[in-house]
Amino acid sequence: MIPFTETRTTPLPSELSFLLADHPRDSWERDPHFLRSTRNWIAAHRLFRDLAYLLRTGAEHYLDGDFDATSYAPRLSVYGDRLVRALHGHHRFEDLSFFPELSEADARFDEGLAILEADHLALDATLDGFTRVSNRALKLLQLDEAQARDEIGAVHDGAVRIEAFLDRHLGDEEDLVVPILLEHRLRG
Ligand SMILES: [Fe+2]
Ligand SMILES: [Fe+2]
Repeated sequence: MIPFTETRTTPLPSELSFLLADHPRDSWERDPHFLRSTRNWIAAHRLFRDLAYLLRTGAEHYLDGDFDATSYAPRLSVYGDRLVRALHGHHRFEDLSFFPELSEADARFDEGLAILEADHLALDATLDGFTRVSNRALKLLQLDEAQARDEIGAVHDGAVRIEAFLDRHLGDEEDLVVPILLEHRLRG
């Protein structure tokens, strides 16, 4: 069985959301302290969601017979590599630089940041499992397409888990982090 980790299902503790009440999502765009760096950080989240979607639907198209091996393999290779590399880099930046900066500005949210860091560890393990099954699937697509189907089923399973993980993590992260940036006028 592939070592995909479980997605966190519980939301962040509600007592951490008091700044979000002062800075609700629908006010971010018109806030003068909603800076380009914050927009770029949210745009990166959108890219991760898009790539995970393309990986899931690509596997579905192959399994349904809408993509043949020639059209599916480069999609899995390019989108998979891009997503895994970008997410590892993003997590490293958040854990080592961004979250410490937020904690220094306002330590009241450290519990939430610790939960988000734990998400990163779990998601990184899921990404490692996804990389392994994807590499096996890519090899089998060249060697033995009948066997590749099973492996692409596992690729699909991994993409579903990554999408669910991102859904939980990114929304929680934005709701916790953006109000801290706005409240303390940080550059992020
Ligand atoms: Fe994160
Ligand atoms: Fe993030």
